[in-house]
Amino acid sequence: MKTKVVNIQEDNIDMNILNEAGDVIKDGGLVAFPTETVYGLGANALDEEAVKKIFIAKGRPQDNPLIIHVADFNIDPYVKNIPEVAKKIMNKFWPGPITLIMEKSDLIPMTTSANLDTVGIRMPSNKIAAELIRASKTAIAAPSANISGRPSPTDVESCIEDLDGKVDYIIGGTKSEVGLESTIVDCTTNPICILRPGGITLEMLKTVDKDVYMDSSISSKPTKDFKPKAPGMKYRHYAPKAPVKIFKGEIEKTIAKINEMMLNYIENKMTVGIIATDETKEFYNNGIIKSLGSRDSLNDIAKNLFHVLRSFDSEDVDIILCEAFDEQGVGLAIMNRLNKSAGFNIIEV
Ligand code: TXA
Ligand code: MG
Repeated sequence: MKTKVVNIQEDNIDMNILNEAGDVIKDGGLVAFPTETVYGLGANALDEEAVKKIFIAKGRPQDNPLIIHVADFNIDPYVKNIPEVAKKIMNKFWPGPITLIMEKSDLIPMTTSANLDTVGIRMPSNKIAAELIRASKTAIAAPSANISGRPSPTDVESCIEDLDGKVDYIIGGTKSEVGLESTIVDCTTNPICILRPGGITLEMLKTVDKDVYMDSSISSKPTKDFKPKAPGMKYRHYAPKAPVKIFKGEIEKTIAKINEMMLNYIENKMTVGIIATDETKEFYNNGIIKSLGSRDSLNDIAKNLFHVLRSFDSEDVDIILCEAFDEQGVGLAIMNRLNKSAGFNIIEV
């Protein structure tokens, strides 16, 4: 398949392009597009045949449901009812990086929800995403626009790398603002439960439901027959080709431990990648060192994380050693993605 790639600017949107891409969605095709979290791979959420193409293009397991994306607050057609707490979250955080799980209506095909009775709904704040949804005149089902298992794309180049030749259209915009996928919150339970941490943090959600809690799958290694409430959380994810080890503890000790282990690897003729920060990068004696940004801005670290993980795939490293972060605010989402990329291979220093 020939993929059409077009770049547009969020502050100067060319509606001709979005109308054309909207027609592709209406006609049952696939369009990758930017959002403020990560790039999405979209299809008409209500068209079973179109949605099937997403699973094929990504190599996605069929038991992993898709989030649907809307551009206005009228979600009545897609759900059986809207719990009060969901209304509060929508009013406070939409449009933005949060997905709400609710009971689905019959309009949502079982292929979209992977046979669940619920559906995840999100209203992205990215203007290109919002205008594309409007132009397509439907809800857009969109997982992250990566091949299953790889880190999600946060720029158009990463999208092209994974999906060129597999989808009809790729719309390029700027680098994703948040850089991590949306927070997923299950609104079918009382209290509500976070299934995936993201840009809207636990602390922020406490202002809506003080008893909000985190699903146990978020910070522990899933066992073989464990069934997390977000099916996607059980898969190996965000993984670069080389294995990743996370070093957790005081930063001075972390640096010392990484340098010590690096010597061993180098003696064994291995090439070592290091994921560091602006404050620490100069203290590593060897290896291919990449900084995620300053420890003063967890938002920047989040924004750069997937790009840095992906970039190691073209470096031919044998192992990646990575610093950890405090699990406060968006740090929780950062560590959730890092722990998964490392298959929970964590070294306490
Ligand atoms: O930020 C995002 O959410 C991005 C952008 C494109 O919007 N999308 C995204 O989709 O991350 P995806 O498919 O890569 O991740 C969706 C996650 C999966 O872990 C899936 O299992 C879970 O959401 N999920 C979807 N529907 C669900 C449901 N009804 N109940 C529980 N989990 C659900
Ligand atoms: Mg994904």
